[in-house]
Amino acid sequence: MTESKLTKSLQVRVADAADAQKITFIINLSFYPAEGFFVEGDRIKLKEVVDSLNTGKFLLAEDEGTPIGCVYVEPRGERAYLGLLSVDPSRQQSGVGSRLMDAAEEYCSSLACRFMDIKMVNLREDLPGFYQRRGYVVTGTSPFPEHIETKVPCYFIDMSKPLGFTGEKSELRKSASDQ
Ligand SMILES: CC(C)(COP(=O)(O)OP(=O)(O)OC[C@H]1O[C@@H](n2cnc3c(N)ncnc32)[C@H](O)[C@@H]1OP(=O)(O)O)[C@@H](O)C(=O)NCCC(=O)NCCS
Repeated sequence: MTESKLTKSLQVRVADAADAQKITFIINLSFYPAEGFFVEGDRIKLKEVVDSLNTGKFLLAEDEGTPIGCVYVEPRGERAYLGLLSVDPSRQQSGVGSRLMDAAEEYCSSLACRFMDIKMVNLREDLPGFYQRRGYVVTGTSPFPEHIETKVPCYFIDMSKPLGFTGEKSELRKSASDQ
């Protein structure tokens, strides 16, 4: 798919509670091929998505109404956390992940967050370049959650990026029902 065709049909919106099942599906669909070699089973359960909807927001990418990607953002004062960036494997390498990253950064900038923080598993050789090319730099490491069983020991590489605060209410925030 060309970028222009994608741009026309792709919509990113702030998800609500009714989207929890779709979000769970798209995260597990996306993560299994990438992380199945070191994590057993699903990446996330429906309950975790429902709980996350109480602490942050999911941005959902849809192509003509079909969910194809999502990302979780959690504003925490002047910093924001971004996680669970997921794109349907059949739709990767066509700009959806980049579009979700841009939308997440714009959304958090409009809430006056000045930095975006992410965590990336050290075993993922494909990811550092993706984030570095989008302005993220390594800031340290942190432990992988103990409750997630892994086939090999691993840890998180922490990365951050400064966000430009626009003060503008973003289109995404305007479209969110509770903002
Ligand atoms: C990581 C992930 C979200 C990236 O999603 P994606 O939709 O493939 O991302 P994009 O298409 O925007 O970018 C991927 C590459 O394709 C390139 N690309 C974008 N549009 C393109 C197009 N139309 N044609 C060809 N290549 C294109 C991008 O330039 C990018 O390369 P770059 O990093 O050198 O710039 C996706 O691989 C994924 O879901 N992985 C599994 C879950 C995961 O690992 N999440 C991150 C956990 S920290």
